[in-house]
Amino acid sequence: MMSAPNALTDLQASPLLFVMGATGNMGGEIARQLLTAGARVRVGVRSPERVAESGAFAGADLARFDASDASTLEALDGVQRMFLLWPPGTNVTEDVLPIIAAARKRGVQQIVFLSILGAERVRIVPHRRVEQALEASGLDWVFLRASYFMQNLSGVHRDDLRVRREIFLPAGQGRTSFVDVRDVAAVGAKALMEGHRNCAYNLTGGAALTYGEAADIFSVTLGKRVHYVNPSPIRFVRVARQHGVTLSFALFMLAEYTVAKLGLAAEVSTTVAELLGRPPISLRQFAEDFREVWL
Ligand SMILES: NC(=O)c1ccc[n+]([C@@H]2O[C@H](COP(=O)([O-])OP(=O)(O)OC[C@H]3O[C@@H](n4cnc5c(N)ncnc54)[C@H](OP(=O)(O)O)[C@@H]3O)[C@@H](O)[C@H]2O)c1
Repeated sequence: MMSAPNALTDLQASPLLFVMGATGNMGGEIARQLLTAGARVRVGVRSPERVAESGAFAGADLARFDASDASTLEALDGVQRMFLLWPPGTNVTEDVLPIIAAARKRGVQQIVFLSILGAERVRIVPHRRVEQALEASGLDWVFLRASYFMQNLSGVHRDDLRVRREIFLPAGQGRTSFVDVRDVAAVGAKALMEGHRNCAYNLTGGAALTYGEAADIFSVTLGKRVHYVNPSPIRFVRVARQHGVTLSFALFMLAEYTVAKLGLAAEVSTTVAELLGRPPISLRQFAEDFREVWL
């Protein structure tokens, strides 16, 4: 006779998945998608009290986790698979590589790492150093090599669109294969739940657009003319500084948009559609979904 399914045993048998950076774009989306799918999730954040107060991530185990504080790496105890990112501004050697070593020591089997499109070609980027460490770690690894996030336009560049009705970026006429964070997160959540092993996924949207074309999409969606301004590098950095952006981040963005200007951000891959069984979210859909953010 077959025994009745035991929900508690099934839950305990499912792997414990750890997500860092959950107060940010990608970690937050991955944690939410995993919880919606019924996975066992531990969320590692620098301020668990603040997250608990906000009520976010109900159903997840909350743990203190700070890449700059080795004592918090014990949050990985009992974890089988984890989502890792390089928090911008942190040091790979001091902050990220110790996480990989601690994960290995504590028996984590798989790490899904948020990387960038083209990391294998641009070896000086921090992401490639993390990838190389993972390849050598003996752990199962997955690289989410993501293109430029659409959510940059609702995040760091939101006020350019909302207040000044412009996209103010030094990307020339270069094309970018904008990808929605929700798609990258869906691939990440799938890789975690299914335990993918040793795969590098190039994750892009379905089309590569110029920022002028992106501005046209926002003009239609918002019902207000949005202009693409293509400032000189010096003007871009000066204006970013006036808006309170740190010099190092302004220069990081300048490098990123120069890559786009040179036509190196235009790769369109079919991986999102292949893995998710549906086309990637388009920039038009993204603009409609988050319309209120710019109004
Ligand atoms: N933007 C893009 O177009 C793009 C494209 C491809 C790849 N990427 C890569 O994506 C990564 C950023 O992802 P995101 O946009 O999700 O980040 P994000 O929104 O900027 O959030 C960063 C997260 O990292 C956490 N964090 C910061 N310092 C930390 C530390 N010392 N220890 C532990 N956590 C720390 C932050 O937590 P707190 O709330 O505590 O600060 C926050 O949750 C970067 O590696 C970037 O290069 C970005």
